[in-house]
Amino acid sequence: MTTLPAEGTNDGTQREIAPFSSEPRTRLIFGVNTVEQIGQLALGLPASRVLLVTDPGIVRAGHAERVQRLLEAAGIVVTLFAETEENPSTACVDRAVAVAKAARVDAIIGLGGGSAMDTAKGCNFILTNGGRMQDYWGIGKATKAMLPLIAIPTTSGTGSECQSYAIISDAITHQKMACGDPKAAARIALLDPVLTVSQPRRVTACTGIDALCHALETAVTLKRNPISWMYSREGFQLCAQNLETVLTSPDNVPARGRMLLGAAFAGTAIEHSMLGAVHSAANPLSAHFGIVHGQAVGMMLAVVIRYNAGSAEARNLYAQLAVTAGLVSSDAQEDVAIEQLIHHVSRLLRCAEIPNSLRDAGVDRASLPMMAREAAKQWTAQFNPRPALEADFLRFYSEAFEG
Ligand SMILES: [Fe+2]
Repeated sequence: MTTLPAEGTNDGTQREIAPFSSEPRTRLIFGVNTVEQIGQLALGLPASRVLLVTDPGIVRAGHAERVQRLLEAAGIVVTLFAETEENPSTACVDRAVAVAKAARVDAIIGLGGGSAMDTAKGCNFILTNGGRMQDYWGIGKATKAMLPLIAIPTTSGTGSECQSYAIISDAITHQKMACGDPKAAARIALLDPVLTVSQPRRVTACTGIDALCHALETAVTLKRNPISWMYSREGFQLCAQNLETVLTSPDNVPARGRMLLGAAFAGTAIEHSMLGAVHSAANPLSAHFGIVHGQAVGMMLAVVIRYNAGSAEARNLYAQLAVTAGLVSSDAQEDVAIEQLIHHVSRLLRCAEIPNSLRDAGVDRASLPMMAREAAKQWTAQFNPRPALEADFLRFYSEAFEG
């Protein structure tokens, strides 16, 4: 039977709750056409000169012009930086900083996917605290106040709008640096489902799978706590029940809204509980074979769930997620619940057209040992509920290679 949380506990396990510190930093505003509020929200920061950080796709979709017009109607001077690139580099951040300095901005708005929001955060670090992005690699290295930031996601994926980290790549070494500080978190996350309708199908698919992975990974990490569990569970339910709908009916705004909220909740869970072996295994796949992040995590997901289910606590938590999402009834055996969970994940991966195997994705079998070495050194591996060492990653890759 799927054991539900005992009386008086709410993280679904009987283990001692690890110490944590939790402070809501970001005001969440959710709803259709809430973007119309951006002028008043910016004035309330208060802001008079704003840097609007976005990317060329968002400009083409008309969202940047709409937001700029709304801000200008509120009397705010807007400077546009639309050169955000995928996996933003330190060079991209430096260009944004130069534009922000020249415009003497007093607030920043990140409009787009995780890359635009991360570029906005990265720009904020250097603009207010000086130095270079490498100086902020880690947690809490900014000593001075930062400018107020509003994050407006146009994808349902990273949850960057609810996080205090900017993921920026070193332009020379290509090392991805997670630069975090509580001051870097957005003051406001504006979640308007209408803005996510313009995503190309491939973006909806890959970012949606990433959000699903965030919910599943954060649910079981060693750092999880009752607060992260609430976000993981809600995030999983929303993503698991709506990803297929947004892929088959892209104009379904209510489903888009549920995905957007699910991704934001899963992203909030990461702030508390970090990630696990799926993300550790995915990074080398992206670095060496250029595999898009959402695709890389998707291909590793089922293998890692099976491995983690060898932990009694993780198995119980996965089973609870399966019940929450309506995949099994609450009296189902745990093993049945895990199989249904993996079955549902596999179905969503097929809908998202994620390749069946690493072989199909163009990965070279000879590179698996090298990637296993790298994966074991990834920061997130240490938070996986079961030890994830080099030999484990080699096994994960070998299984995922065959599919
Ligand atoms: Fe991710």
